[in-house]
Amino acid sequence: MLNPARNSLFDRYLGISRLLAGQLDFNSIIQAVAAEISHIIPHDHLDVCIKMLDGKYHIAYESGIETAWSKHPPALLTGSPIRTLLSGDVDFLLSPDACADPRFHFEGAFASPIIELSLRSRLHVPLKVQGNIIGALSCSSHERDSYTMEDVENARSIADLLAPYFFALRAAEQAKRSAIVETEARAREEGLRLGALKLTEALEAERQRIGMDLHDQTLADLTRLSRRMERLTGLRELSGETLEPICRTLQQCMHDLRQIIEEAKPTVLQLFGVAEAIENHLERSVRESGQAIEWRMIDESDGALVDLDQTVATALFRIVQEAVNNAIRHAQPKVILVRLASRERILSIEVDDDGHGLRSSQDKAGHGIDNMKTRARLISARFEIGGHADASGTSVKVTLPVRPKPLPEAFP
Ligand SMILES: Nc1ncnc2c1ncn2[C@@H]1O[C@H](COP(=O)(O)OP(=O)(O)OP(=O)(O)O)[C@@H](O)[C@H]1O
Ligand SMILES: [Mg+2]
Repeated sequence: MLNPARNSLFDRYLGISRLLAGQLDFNSIIQAVAAEISHIIPHDHLDVCIKMLDGKYHIAYESGIETAWSKHPPALLTGSPIRTLLSGDVDFLLSPDACADPRFHFEGAFASPIIELSLRSRLHVPLKVQGNIIGALSCSSHERDSYTMEDVENARSIADLLAPYFFALRAAEQAKRSAIVETEARAREEGLRLGALKLTEALEAERQRIGMDLHDQTLADLTRLSRRMERLTGLRELSGETLEPICRTLQQCMHDLRQIIEEAKPTVLQLFGVAEAIENHLERSVRESGQAIEWRMIDESDGALVDLDQTVATALFRIVQEAVNNAIRHAQPKVILVRLASRERILSIEVDDDGHGLRSSQDKAGHGIDNMKTRARLISARFEIGGHADASGTSVKVTLPVRPKPLPEAFP
């Protein structure tokens, strides 16, 4: 006749097998089987730790009480309280009181949850697949001395049931992770490629425009000038009167040429937008200043700067440009912080420095601040400049409401 105790144990194992079916991640497996395991090995805390494929780190998954073990990112195997089990030095660990068991508490051991949550009785068995240790199954109880060698044997049988599932899951997760990393790398590459393409296209378009402008305008002017000069070579005497229109045309020609050169610069602002242009200006001007200034840009604008009208974008950029230039030129700051934010359709850009601040009376030297104010007024933005609440440094802030994006035509 079959032993009823063995019979019901067998049923429990079958129950665990059935619960495993269809579970697709570590946490769901553990949550699914923990109750069934508690009938075989009563516990207050159950965890499964899985060694990562690199053999250096492990991840813990828990049921019962949640501890810092599972909240942590992958931890080093060398700091695991059960490192001797994970390395195969021992085949199981059974402790009547883990809080006082020196095997779990060594220099650098991540054993704080044992003490904090009073995990006293503990038993640990390896999860093995084809003789290789892929992790460990651990049961703990708040009571002292709860587990026996019989529990260790039962835990081994459960571990043998679980190990192949965890092995397959680990392989699948690792493959998923590598696929994500690869996709991200490809997306980054593609982003760079598109950026470079955009830049090349813009530069090419610009090159063509400059070519046309130079041809239609400056070259035509210079050709006219040269014809007039040819005619002058036949004259005996040159008077100021004859030379005057030539000088005028030459000056006009130089002015036009300057204009073409000025317009020829496809700026980062036009190509990539306000945020990129500000970051680019910050980086370049701090570097060129030769001062040891730390700069940071925090972009919480949530894309609100992307669809700005070109005039508004240019005005905002020029305001920030001047504020940054002022901070570098006048403030001797350690830090310059630019914060772009968008909250409830209000866009704000703030330039803060921790320098010596504005010195009221004599600080009226140039036109920069006036220009910032005018630019802000022209785009209906609010402009503020002043010291910080603790009177240190200078803060320049420009705020403006942003229009909601128009809905696509399908949604009138
Ligand atoms: N971030 C700042 N920290 C300390 N002082 C500042 C700061 N910004 C401006 N100032 C002071 O305010 C004055 C006026 O600034 P403003 O930008 O109007 O003129 P400027 O920088 O001197 O000259 P310009 O901008 O016309 O080349 C500056 O000369 C400087 O003394
Ligand atoms: Mg200035």
